[in-house]
Amino acid sequence: MDTSKVLHMNGGLGNNSYARNSSIQKNVISMTKLMIEEAVMNLCSQTTHATLVVADLGCSSGPNTLYTVTEIVRAVENLCKVTGHRPPEYQVFLNDLPGNDFNTLFRMLPDFQEKYPKSEERPRCFFSGVPGSFYGRLFPCNSLHFVHSACSLHWLSKVPKHIENNERNICTARTSPPNVLEAYHEQFHEDFTMFLDCRAAEIVSGGSMVLTIAGRRSNDQYSNGCCYVWELLAMALQEMVSEGLIEEKKLFDFNVPGYTPTLEEVKSKIENQGSFSISNLVVLEVNWGAYDSKINSGVSSEGEGGINVVKCVRAAVEQILLHHFGDGIVEGCFDRYKKLFVDRVSKEEKVFTDVCVSLIRK
Ligand SMILES: C[S@@+](CC[C@H](N)C(=O)[O-])C[C@H]1O[C@@H](n2cnc3c(N)ncnc32)[C@H](O)[C@@H]1O
Repeated sequence: MDTSKVLHMNGGLGNNSYARNSSIQKNVISMTKLMIEEAVMNLCSQTTHATLVVADLGCSSGPNTLYTVTEIVRAVENLCKVTGHRPPEYQVFLNDLPGNDFNTLFRMLPDFQEKYPKSEERPRCFFSGVPGSFYGRLFPCNSLHFVHSACSLHWLSKVPKHIENNERNICTARTSPPNVLEAYHEQFHEDFTMFLDCRAAEIVSGGSMVLTIAGRRSNDQYSNGCCYVWELLAMALQEMVSEGLIEEKKLFDFNVPGYTPTLEEVKSKIENQGSFSISNLVVLEVNWGAYDSKINSGVSSEGEGGINVVKCVRAAVEQILLHHFGDGIVEGCFDRYKKLFVDRVSKEEKVFTDVCVSLIRK
């Protein structure tokens, strides 16, 4: 599977859209607010910029990217109040894969401007959409001051090769053979290094980058976080195979292009690539149950008879399931997924883990 041709979050503003089901990611971004603020302060306290060029990579089609831009702009404007400097204009590039629903995102831009009721206090933000993979060059050399990317770099550029023996698993899992674990790690290494090479070319010396990556704490590749999301999805698909609703071979042929690194893995790839210094590196954790006030009853706090976390997962992975299995299995798969999820979360405490790093271009 070539991720750039298949992957996109559910578009539009409907019940299953990413725009309406991305509260987990919003919470993760809000936990990194301080890190974003520190990076921006560091960037702007050294030089004044007439135009600050900002890019959000893997922006998707919901409100979270505009929330991030708001936080970046707020940090700059606050700093300018303290220093007495005139605030810059902002050129903001919103990047995602070509299949992303950029139109839904662009329709949210007037609301972004209207958040500032007095027109004279409105920051001058000039937005552009940039379709393309962040595992390649997206911008000219030395053209960016600040790069942000949240909850996106766990998506690999493709499913690793030679993992046919992963069988009933759909990603790294407890029962994955060692070659599968190695292949996923190798693909992450290749992709993340390419990502850093490209950004090293594009970001000016002294420029900043804040990355939040769905990750894991333990060295076991199947320990928790995203792997757990995939493990439950694999169980739902396996149930459908047992019931004769999906061919076993179809499941054996399906693997997801996802990898959740540890803090140590992220650190070592950055150090080996060599173009950035690390100014902050932390692990963040969010409890799954925190998103569902009525988790045990199976009724979501949004009152739509679903579970918020399950809906967030569906908004993110539905398209790759559709691509491989066709649309006949999707409802059944997510009904089973919801039951498995409610059962597990009521018995065990589970957390989403993210590795968050703030970098400065040397
Ligand atoms: C879970 S969403 C996160 C969106 C947003 N940053 C947020 O935090 O809500 C991940 C996004 O990364 C995008 N993505 C994945 N691989 C990508 C790539 N190689 N290049 C650009 N975008 C990518 C996906 O299309 C998706 O929109």
